[in-house]
Amino acid sequence: MPRAAITAVGHYVPEDVYPNSYFESYLDTSDEWIRERTGIRERRFARNGATSDLIVPAARMCLEQRGITPADIDCIIVATVTPDYFFPSTAAVVQRKLGAVNAWGFDLSAACSGFIFALVTAAKLVESGAAKRLLLCGADKMSAITDFQDRSTAVLFGDAGGVVLLEPSEDEQVGVLDYVLYMNGEGGKYLYMPAGGSAKPPSLETVKNREHYVHQEGRTVFKEAVVRMAEVTLEIMQRNGLRAEDIAWLVPHQANLRIITATAERMGLSMEKVMVNIDRYGNTTAATIPLCLSEWYAAGRLDYGDRLILVSFGAGYTWGAVYVRWSLPKPKD
Ligand code: ACO
Repeated sequence: MPRAAITAVGHYVPEDVYPNSYFESYLDTSDEWIRERTGIRERRFARNGATSDLIVPAARMCLEQRGITPADIDCIIVATVTPDYFFPSTAAVVQRKLGAVNAWGFDLSAACSGFIFALVTAAKLVESGAAKRLLLCGADKMSAITDFQDRSTAVLFGDAGGVVLLEPSEDEQVGVLDYVLYMNGEGGKYLYMPAGGSAKPPSLETVKNREHYVHQEGRTVFKEAVVRMAEVTLEIMQRNGLRAEDIAWLVPHQANLRIITATAERMGLSMEKVMVNIDRYGNTTAATIPLCLSEWYAAGRLDYGDRLILVSFGAGYTWGAVYVRWSLPKPKD
């Protein structure tokens, strides 16, 4: 079987930057609290448009990088918890907006682990020959489901889109090499959106009670995230005989700098080998990992053969790690 290799990577963030001082202006919070407890300095919010509008420019960046057209794409997977609509899928909307007339596709919901879960799904489609040029999109317009009156969640999130192109590769050294994925539905009640689904359809009551927003027991989720991210990272390293010095980059989901630091410490990895951009974007849910990959690649900080560990923890609970060897040489200046 061929490997599934990442052959292009793109991202998009909205123009409007909201520094921590924006929240200081109307909530009982401070720049200091937000920076110290989360590592976030600023985030971006899209004033207009939907999640598909965060994906399309990132997808175009991929296509241009690879020198192919939308018609060359045969599958689109969108990981998101903020789809444009319940249905049709955001993948279908992206297909129309891009003009990817030869693609089928679907959405996948695994919250902050969405990109990792979708990457494994996509890799299996590519390895089996079911897809040959697959656009894998991780994107969330978190501002659409954030309660801007709730200081404990409002300061955490941002909007962004990230896309990778996956293609079969005969080069056995690179691509998606291994993965470990987990889920525990018992954790569902600590991080969720109470209303809007079939369990609690929208009503005047649900709107009045602000139930169409992210609800989170932050401390409970934090404790679980720290343990699980470290556990799963060590598991994938052991399975593959990897030592800290073998790893070029840890690419963690960006929910909280303290969770990221704790994970790196458990791996024995210096923070110089950890991709961190939470300070500039906050938690963009399914977009954090491809956004990191795209920025690091564009900056010439990723090279052919680099060993990467992608790791995430999110609502569900869902968590997992993927071992990838980077298949692209550094971009030319
Ligand atoms: N400004 C000032 N004070 C605040 C703020 C704020 N923005 N938010 C909360 N506080 C207060 C609380 O009210 C509390 O006050 P109290 O002690 O008087 O009750 C105090 O700060 C501590 O609150 P905690 O929630 O315990 O703070 P904590 O240090 O845990 O940080 C945070 C909160 C940042 C949310 C953290 O718990 C966290 O990162 N949790 C995990 C997030 C995560 O990984 N989520 C999964 C991915 S997201 C997804 O899947 C969509």
